[in-house]
Amino acid sequence: MLLAIPDILSRENALALRKAILTAEWIDGNATSGAGAASVKNNRQLPEGGKVTRAAQETVTAALMSNAAFLSAALPHTVFPPLFNRYGDGETFGLHVDNAIRFHGGTGARIRTDLSATLFLTDPDEYDGGELEIEGSFGTLSYKLPAGHMILYPSTSLHRVTPVTRGERISCFFWMQSLVADPMEREILYDLDQSVQALSAERGKADKEVLRLTSVYHNLVRRWAEA
Ligand code: NI
Repeated sequence: MLLAIPDILSRENALALRKAILTAEWIDGNATSGAGAASVKNNRQLPEGGKVTRAAQETVTAALMSNAAFLSAALPHTVFPPLFNRYGDGETFGLHVDNAIRFHGGTGARIRTDLSATLFLTDPDEYDGGELEIEGSFGTLSYKLPAGHMILYPSTSLHRVTPVTRGERISCFFWMQSLVADPMEREILYDLDQSVQALSAERGKADKEVLRLTSVYHNLVRRWAEA
């Protein structure tokens, strides 16, 4: 599933977060990537263990865990601590696929990457280039979202960040393991949940048919989730 989720952070909070992380020291982005991706990667990243990084990670994680659209679409089991990157003039990340397994030394978390996410911390008019391009069965899709908005996409896809030709692109990115490994099952659950939410707003949560659909939703989660 490819989903653009608006306002994970308000624009104001996204810009405040960006301001905070810009005070830290940045390192070569290749410090954190898998061997395959490293050869096509040319950007900078916040060091994983730094104090500024940890505070920023807490801000993003708290925002994710209170976002209904994210929780419904991702059904997160474990979210890898978010990382931050920046691309200035000429910097890019060529076509690659994300590593299947990520290990986090700090938390000891080992996750299977089902979904990848980019949370934009710069507005589209602040830079040229820097599109996130994702290849899929519908062709190549290109994203450049406002600050605070996020794109959630399958980690199985080939994707790249096109070269920045003006200004700077700053964003937060991370991977997660979903409770539901199968993308088709996850998508069915998302669609069903969206309908249950809409119908329960219309008819009330106590409506008999809303209750039955809610139970269908939870029973499917029971069948498909690995908790
Ligand atoms: Ni990637």
